[in-house]
Amino acid sequence: MKILVTGGAGFIGSHTIIELIEAGHEPIAYDNLCNSSPVVFERIKAITGVDVPFIEGDIRDAGKLHEVFSQNDIDCVIHFAGLKAVGESVEKPIEYYDNNIGGTVKLLEAMRDAGCKNIIFSSSATVYGAPASLPLTEDMPKGELTNPYGRTKSMIEDILADVQYAIPNMNVVLLRYFNPIGAHPSGTMGEDPSGIPNNLMPYITQVAVGKLAELGVFGDDYDTPDGTGVRDYIHVMDLASGHVAALKAIKPEGGLYIYNLGTGNGTSVLELVHAFEEATGVKVPYAIKPRRAGDIDACYADCGKAQRELGWKAQYDIAHMCADSWRWQQANPNGYRS
Ligand code: NAD
Ligand code: UFG
Repeated sequence: MKILVTGGAGFIGSHTIIELIEAGHEPIAYDNLCNSSPVVFERIKAITGVDVPFIEGDIRDAGKLHEVFSQNDIDCVIHFAGLKAVGESVEKPIEYYDNNIGGTVKLLEAMRDAGCKNIIFSSSATVYGAPASLPLTEDMPKGELTNPYGRTKSMIEDILADVQYAIPNMNVVLLRYFNPIGAHPSGTMGEDPSGIPNNLMPYITQVAVGKLAELGVFGDDYDTPDGTGVRDYIHVMDLASGHVAALKAIKPEGGLYIYNLGTGNGTSVLELVHAFEEATGVKVPYAIKPRRAGDIDACYADCGKAQRELGWKAQYDIAHMCADSWRWQQANPNGYRS
């Protein structure tokens, strides 16, 4: 299939492009590079031998999108493009609603005008809010959200459901990611946050490589076995293969499908720190700090639906995720600017 990958230069998009190529698809990347580097396409070429077509553009640029759809017979869009920093979204809600919601609406207009009927969307476990029970299944109600970023994900899910209802032969696949970490096993591609990382694994690797002094553990009084927050970490290569599997949900009659992409295992902050130390032999100094606003105790997936319906299951364990994150960070201490 010919697949337009919005946000294709980003962390998850770039790893998904590798898996799409390996599965015989033809990805075209579309990205405005606001949080990524075009160097990633050189790395993709070195790994796959394929020069992926890259269009530098914004999803809010209706004219550019129409051009892309008229020049390429796109079978499906995988829509990663978006802003994703929770704290920043509280400071800049207008930018988040404009980029994530406004951009998605423009993308949907261009798809409708071009007759493109298939979209896979990067949603998040954040839409469940504070879980009433665990593990989370797709039929559980969505929850109360604490920040504009999370609300954009939930609103886009609703927008996509409304559009699919109005165009019944359209396929909308909502993938709710849990916590992606890890990197390509080559060590040449990985997560490249700008500035001080917000998320746990890039913070750990930057402490390990000596760029940051110590990890702050945000709270040790949660209702979890060791008191630190529990999350369902998933290797980015598993997440990438989940997108290839999600293409199987596409049916001639159309439909709306929702899948959790996680491993089903919960790991606490301190368990992740210790697993990292064990996998790499590098010590990660840490200090317990106050809770971070908006954080929940624990969150992990029931991934049975994706396994039953898509034949997909995560393969990599925490040790593997730590080793791959570290290989990337060590070889590229300054990310793609190294
Ligand atoms: P990322 O920032 O690395 O990738 C997003 C890409 O989209 C970047 O390359 C950025 O330049 C591009 N982009 C942003 N706005 C754009 C616009 N208006 N037009 C064109 N390109 C634009 O983030 P990621 O971690 O790869 O996340 C990909 C998607 O998955 C995002 O939608 C994110 O919200 C979602 N998601 C991520 C996580 C996570 O923890 N990483 C968890 C759940 C969901
Ligand atoms: N944490 C620390 N110190 C840090 C960073 C994080 O202790 O420096 C803790 C957090 O308190 C939490 C856990 O590590 O308990 C994971 O935090 P992350 O920021 O890595 O991930 P979150 O679960 O908070 O959120 C991530 C993405 C969201 C997404 C969500 C679910 O940032 O965008 O996963 O997919 F919605």
